[in-house]
Amino acid sequence: MKILAIETSCDETAVCIVKADGEDIRVLGNELYSQAALHAQYGGVFPNMAKREHAKNLVPLLAKCLADAKCGGESRAIPGETKEKIKIILEREGNLADDLLIFAEKSVRPDIDAIAVTNGPGLEPALWVGVTFAKSLGILWDMPVYPINHLEGHILVAAIERIAENGFAFKEIEYPAIALLVSGGHTQIVLNKAPLAYKIVGDTKDDAAGEAFDKVARILGLPYPGGPEISRLAKKDREEFPDQETMYPLPRPMIRSGDLDFSFSGLKTAVLYTVKKIPKMTDATRQEIAREFEDAAIEVLVLKTRQAAIEYGAKTIVMGGGVSANAKLRSDLAKLAEELSAAFLVPEVSASTDNALMIGVAAAVRIAHSAKPAADFRAEGNLSLS
Ligand code: KG4
Ligand code: ZN
Repeated sequence: MKILAIETSCDETAVCIVKADGEDIRVLGNELYSQAALHAQYGGVFPNMAKREHAKNLVPLLAKCLADAKCGGESRAIPGETKEKIKIILEREGNLADDLLIFAEKSVRPDIDAIAVTNGPGLEPALWVGVTFAKSLGILWDMPVYPINHLEGHILVAAIERIAENGFAFKEIEYPAIALLVSGGHTQIVLNKAPLAYKIVGDTKDDAAGEAFDKVARILGLPYPGGPEISRLAKKDREEFPDQETMYPLPRPMIRSGDLDFSFSGLKTAVLYTVKKIPKMTDATRQEIAREFEDAAIEVLVLKTRQAAIEYGAKTIVMGGGVSANAKLRSDLAKLAEELSAAFLVPEVSASTDNALMIGVAAAVRIAHSAKPAADFRAEGNLSLS
């Protein structure tokens, strides 16, 4: 079956078409527009600006994706009643209704079976654009629409492995699995005992790991998003000074708390105090602090994942979310999995940060497990996994 997937939960507008066939996932089209450069000027994501950008970019990305996927279908006129319904659904989304109807009038109904869209968690104004767009397409093309949890997308996209340029195969997951979910909005340890059954066993008490990377980057004068920048500097420092002990030691928050929870806000504040005491910040100091911060954050993430994996007898360790793009975290968790004789599942780096493939993959799994489409659902900024 062919699934059109849409993701607009934060500052990435993404559309993807996958063909799911048993264990096989073929990517027919995959488009992503990152608004990061736009938000970078302001040091973080502004929900209403993200919403406006999604509304502007969805139709062009959809058009490109459909063209790449060559999902031709039958041509048909759009009834006036359908147009009216779409105008109502999209009334708060700027020019999106007009853009969509202009596009729809000159294109055919694609040969696609279902539409999937992220309905949470995320920034509500941003989520709503995707949700109303997906619902409009469902009406326009008379197709079922499936709401998908963004976090489930991050987890399930870790379970596919590339077998061809545009082809993936699902790996068999041995349960129980422990998933470390690390993104800009979440830091959770999730117990996954059976397909699609999740229990959050660890959570952050304040900032998410990605948020900490972004805030520390800001303190160090690095651009948004901070994760990749910190990681780049930390790597440089390790290469230049492999055995050097840091002059700026940072705490490992909650490392001995005994539970599976996290706290990253104190670590960020510790960086702030450290930086305030430095009379003149140099590139060398900046990279040394970036390295120590990355070491501290990763040490806690890996230790708690280790604790959870042992406590629940994990046969598989999964990692997902934007911070899973981090090279050191990937390598340290891979070592942990090896030490515990557990399988290790992590998305390709390009599928670690927000994208629509992960939503298509999650929809394929949900549909294979008999999920029903939903006619009436909302965007839910705080949607949880369990
Ligand atoms: O999953 P994601 O794309 O969006 C959310 O759902 O939040 O995660 C984005 C987060 C940002 O905080 C970003 O700084 C972080 O992932 N990130 C990284 C790296 N690449 C992205 N953090 C650490 N190291 C990286 N290489
Ligand atoms: Zn995400």
